Amino acid sequence: MHLATLDADAIAARLPQLSALLHACVHDGASIGFILPFDSGDSDAFWTGNVRPAVARGSRLLLVFELDGAIAGAVQLDWDTPPNQAHRAEVRKLLVHPAFRRRGLARQLMQAVEERARALPRQLLTLDTRTHDHAEPLYRSLGYKTAGVIPGYALAPEGGRLDATTIMYKQLSLP
Ligand SMILES: CC(C)(COP(=O)(O)OP(=O)(O)OC[C@H]1O[C@@H](n2cnc3c(N)ncnc32)[C@H](O)[C@@H]1OP(=O)(O)O)[C@@H](O)C(=O)NCCC(=O)NCCS
Repeated sequence: MHLATLDADAIAARLPQLSALLHACVHDGASIGFILPFDSGDSDAFWTGNVRPAVARGSRLLLVFELDGAIAGAVQLDWDTPPNQAHRAEVRKLLVHPAFRRRGLARQLMQAVEERARALPRQLLTLDTRTHDHAEPLYRSLGYKTAGVIPGYALAPEGGRLDATTIMYKQLSLP
């Protein structure tokens, strides 16, 4: 098992695995920008239409966690920020396949993304997560602070209610 960075060609080559990861997370109830119904075509479209162009432009990092050749988890670091925020990057779409959870994969992905942010260098990391989701204590344990909670921010994937989101940030100490 190891962490790997995928470039634009690798994203195309491994589209079925990336797509399966996102599809499984959304169908497991994750609130990560999508609502049901969500099919594999929707999942493909996210990787090819959103992630791949950003990686090709050099403004986003896609880091994956590989287990026996399969993609078990992923996270993105997006530094496509305005000129007055050249010190900031956004952590996006931390995903661990439901079959591989509670083994520390997300923690390792987050630690690796932080190392990459330091190297860029980007010293302020921001993210948001559905309030009370499992990701919240993970981010807190990694030193992220809560800037605030916005009620009624996003429609639940299954519809029927609006969930709050928690905005978090971490200041990195640069060498
Ligand atoms: C959130 C998520 C990425 C965690 O992945 P994971 O690999 O299982 O997490 P880890 O094993 O690294 O656990 C790290 C910490 O997260 C928290 N955590 C993760 N799953 C948890 C659970 N089921 N119950 C309670 N706490 C949990 C704990 O604080 C845990 O630390 P601990 O094991 O020392 O108690 C995963 O559940 C997921 O992909 N969820 C759906 C997508 C999502 O919501 N992503 C976040 C978007 S902002």
